[in-house]
Parts: sequence; C-alpha cells; structure tokens
Amino acid sequence: MPESIQVARAGGLDAPETSPPTQPFVMVVFGASGDLTKRLLVPALYNLACDGLLSEQFALLGTAMEDLSTDSFRARMSEDIKKFHTRQDFDQPAWDRLVERFHYVPGGFSDPGLYETLRAEVAKLDAKFGCQGNVLFYFAVAPRFFGLLCDNLARAGFKQGQAGGGWKRCIVEKPFGTDLDSARKLNAEVLANWRESEIYRVDHYLGKETVQNLLAFRFSNGMFEPLWNKHFIDNIQFNVAEAVDVEGRGGYYDQSGVLRDMMQNHMFQMLAYLCMEVPGSFEADAIRNEKAKLLQSVRHYTPAEVDRYVVRGQYGPQLDDKGNVVKPGYRQEKDVNPASNTETYAAARLHIDNWRWEGVPVYLRSGKALWKRGTEIVVEFKKAPEVLFRGTPVTQLSPNRLIFHIQPYQGIEVRFQAKIPGPRLHLQPVHMRFSYGDAFKGSRYTGYEVMLYSCSYGDATLFSRGDLVEAAWEVAQPIIDRWKEKPPADFPNYARASWGPKAAADLIARDGRQWHEVVTEEVLRCVPLFKDGDRLFLEQVVMALHARQAEAGELVIKKGDIGRELYLVARGQVEVIGETGKVIKLLRDGDIFGEIAVLTSQPRTADVRAKTPCDLFVLDKADFSRILRDNPHVAEAVKQIAKERYRINILMEALIAPH
Ligand code: BG6
Repeated sequence: MPESIQVARAGGLDAPETSPPTQPFVMVVFGASGDLTKRLLVPALYNLACDGLLSEQFALLGTAMEDLSTDSFRARMSEDIKKFHTRQDFDQPAWDRLVERFHYVPGGFSDPGLYETLRAEVAKLDAKFGCQGNVLFYFAVAPRFFGLLCDNLARAGFKQGQAGGGWKRCIVEKPFGTDLDSARKLNAEVLANWRESEIYRVDHYLGKETVQNLLAFRFSNGMFEPLWNKHFIDNIQFNVAEAVDVEGRGGYYDQSGVLRDMMQNHMFQMLAYLCMEVPGSFEADAIRNEKAKLLQSVRHYTPAEVDRYVVRGQYGPQLDDKGNVVKPGYRQEKDVNPASNTETYAAARLHIDNWRWEGVPVYLRSGKALWKRGTEIVVEFKKAPEVLFRGTPVTQLSPNRLIFHIQPYQGIEVRFQAKIPGPRLHLQPVHMRFSYGDAFKGSRYTGYEVMLYSCSYGDATLFSRGDLVEAAWEVAQPIIDRWKEKPPADFPNYARASWGPKAAADLIARDGRQWHEVVTEEVLRCVPLFKDGDRLFLEQVVMALHARQAEAGELVIKKGDIGRELYLVARGQVEVIGETGKVIKLLRDGDIFGEIAVLTSQPRTADVRAKTPCDLFVLDKADFSRILRDNPHVAEAVKQIAKERYRINILMEALIAPH
C-alpha cells in the first residue's frame, strides 16, 4: 500500500494537511446529466478541491444521452452545486477553478462512435492537464448498462496497456444485481474484459466515517477485541430506521424492497465489519478476504428457517384520530402496484456459524416510513450474575451495551451500571459517550470523497469485491425465494410513523430479548410530562425506558394485577376500561398510564386495552421511583395527573419509596 494512503486512512479525510492530493486522473462520468452526479459526485469533487485534496492534474468528462454542450453542462453544474454542496460557506473561486475542468460530450452508450469521441477527448484532456494516462470511469447509470460499458470501453482500447500508460479503473454504482443469478451474470460480464482489481463496486455505507470507524475501533483498541466473541457477547442488533417513505422512487422500489435495497448491501457490509476476524493487515484484500469469509459463514436458510427467523412488513397509511388518511400507505404511492407485496420493512435473526459467533443471535431490522431516522449497532454483553447482589436492594442487572451510533447522531456509547450515591446499594444505568461532533471538526463530506480519493490510489478497501457481493446474495436469496413462493397474508401490517410490524418485536421476544430502542431527548420532549424536563432528568428517563408493542385489542394492563411498570404511549390509542366495562378514558400519543398502581403499590384499578396497534415505552417501578426521588418537580406533576385523571391523592412518600 502506498504510504500516502496509510496516512489518509488513519484520519479518514479529516486531516488534509497530512494527506496528499489524489493521483492525477481524467474522470469520465457516464450518466453525467443524472441525479447522482449533481447530488453526490460533483459536491464530493468540490469538497476535495476545497480541502486541497484533488490533484491539479484533473479533468472531468461527462457523457449522457442528453444533448448538452460543455458550456451548458458547466452552467447546469454551477446552478446545482449551490443546492447540493455540503459546506458551510460556498467558495466561489474554488468552484470556478474546478468547473473549468468540466467537459461534456453527448451520446448513446451502445453507439461505438461515442467511444471514439471519448478516446479523442480523453487524450486531449490528458495532454492538457497532465493526467499521466490515468482514467477513472464512473458508471452513474442503471445496472443494465454496466456490462455494455465495460465491453465497449475495452473494445475501444481503453483498457490498461491498450491506451498508453497510466491506470484505467471503473467505479460501478449500485445495485449490483437484483438476486444471486443476476449478480453472478453481472460479475461475469464486467470481468470478461477487466480484472477484478480494476472494478470498484460502490456501497456508499463504506464511505461513511462512522462505518469506517468500526474497523478502527475494533482493531486499534486493546480493550474490546478480547471480548469480541460468543463467550462475552449475548447478541448483536443492527437497526437502520428511516423516517422517509419511498420518496417518489416507487417504480424502482417496487421491484426491490428493503431486503435488496438496504439489507443485502449496506447492512451486510456493516455486519461484516463488526463481526469479521482480525485481518493480517489493513491492505484492501486482507480486509476484503475477512469480510467475504464472514458473509460465507452466515447460515443460508431453508424455507422453514425463513418463516421462523425473518419477518417482513409494508407500511399502511397514517390515520388521524377519526380514521382519516393523513398520508398514504405504500400501495397508494406513485408507480407502486396497488396490490404490491413488496416489503418496506424486514427484520431477521441471522446465525453466523463460525467459531467466534456460533450461538450468538445477530438481529437486523430496517424499514421505511418509521417513527424516526436512526442507524445504530448495539452489541449487548452477557449479564453479570445477579446472585452476587442477594441481600442488597438490587434485584436485577441490565446488560452492558456498546452502541455505535452511525447516523444521524454520530458517536459511540457504553452503557453500564453505577452505584447511586447514598448509604445503601442502589444501581442506576449510566453511560459514557463519545460524540464525533465534540472530538472532531464536523464532517462536511458526502461519503463519496473518500471513495474517489482512494480509488485514485488503487485502494479498493472501501469497495465491494465480486465474491463478497455474491456471498451476500447467497444469504439473501433463500429469503427472496421463500417470500416469492409465499405471499404475505397481512400487508400492510404497520402504520406510517410507527415502530414497524409487531411481528418484529415477537421475533426477538421469542428468544427472551428485546430490540434496543435508542430514544432521544427530542422524542421525550413530545410527552407533556417530560416537556420541560431538564437534561439530567431526561437522560435518566432515556436510559431507563424499554419498548413494547401491543396489537389492537391486546390487554396491556389487567385489573387486579400488581403494577410493576408504567407506560408511555409513543404512538396509538389505548382505552381505560371502567368498572362496568365502559371505556372511561381514551389515551393517545404522549399520554402515560399505569402509574397509579405503580406508585401506590395497590393492585391495578382498571383494565387498559390497546384500541389500535400501539408503540409503548415502559418504565419499571424501581426506575420511576428513583427518577422521581431525584426530580421533585416531576413527582409534583404526577400527583397532579393522579388527582385529575383518577381523583386519587398520592402522598409524596409513596411516590419516592424505593420499592
Ligand atoms: C440507498 C437506498 O442505497 O440508501 C435508499 O436505495 C436509502 O432507499 C438509502 O434511503 C439510505 O442511505 P443513507 O445514507 O441515507 O442511510
């Protein structure tokens, strides 16, 4: 590996002063008039240029069907960059210097004449800007063109050794195949004329700093790697929640679904980084070998295993209190089949059948139109033995968790228990948190900078190798097959803006576990009781909450039971049922219930039933009393609720009694 690359990788691209610029190259962009070019590629080049990381010996040659001239292409890019650049301030002189190097030729990708023109233009630009014969072809086009482009470029004499000196490399966008067969076929087409080392398959998750940092975290710190195995880790959870819906991409998405769109690619990449063996070095192939091995160790499911370990969902409309549609469901989206069975949500338990991970459940879930945007990886360690604490007030211990916050919040968090100051042994969950924003200059990058940069140096670490892509499809294929064979019976099965289908909660509950929901203070502030809470109070609540989903009609609280927890409605409606079986109260998003029996230690005074599917946060009695003890103003508010809603007077002592 060239030394310069090592320097660059050590700090991502955050330390321009220690990183040299890219190698010289001409970048030929196929699909230059499209979305990707204006939204990501050009802003990434601009960022590199602003930070002195783009070689002066650089030129861009765009091509697409659209009949543009170099001048009109430059004018359009100059308009678009204002919208899509990611920097705080726009640096006009830097942009002017960059856009002067942009050129354009129109043409159809199957027309041999286009490639003749490209050869002549590339030769001119190479000579003018001193690009040393290096050419980077960027395929920002639909996958059906990948093979054709590789073929035509080779035929036109563009391969290394054919067209003078310098390197020739192709960056291929996603999706790479739509199933195992098509991925194999695509690999065969692409590799018919080019070597694997010249093909760079993009997965933009690998361009994310927080994803790259998974490797740095694991392999440059001595503290966790010894624990990184089945002896110490109980389970691992990958959560990629998106609040956005299909955003007008119904035509594409309806042929895809979340399994293909997120899991087989982005999530499996993160899985491989988190779970792979220690590579022999940080060389691209050393890392990619281990990633491929890991994916090859993931069990390929039988149809019965798919039914058992994988669930799917599709979002329905968002309704208001009266049942009116506020926002449409997936089947009502533009360009989506009104009877579509495409999944917009999936959750799975995977098995990694190797020495390190055998028996450790790995849970994945991802979906569109969910309650929040958030990507987190939660590594849950085995619990300490509780028996040690017999004779103390401690009755249960929560497991240690290491949480990688990938986006939008970027950080790493360790959760553990600490003794609450005082004469007796009471524990409270607490955390230590590293936040990228506090430790580094905020990242202004799109993620594509580092990929273009490392491709110019021939470093393929951040790109997917052919065997890796196929190994990922091999895991996904049995699921695709089973789902095709057995259409879903219950679509749509989750409402927009909810946590997703209850079946996902049941999947993990069957193993005696729960999804770890990362709750934020913003979420809590939507609840009237917490609205004015100070940071310390909210943080205590965030740490103590856990999640529960209820189906419509499900009894959440049964009259006469001993109350050990109280509930907060994140979304949905619940009914409080009175003596005569009549509904005495309807509670909605932001309301709390179940607090009375918890506080008075009396049996539950009423049944509470979910009227609609509900997403609920649960707070255990011990945690609640502890939090109230520390926050008398909240205790006061709770007393008020009890008085107004149930006409019960609660004594302060009862509120804050430890148990
Ligand atoms: C893309 C998918 O690959 O990744 C989109 O096609 C998805 O459907 C996107 O929204 C998510 O990327 P990010 O970077 O926003 O997490």
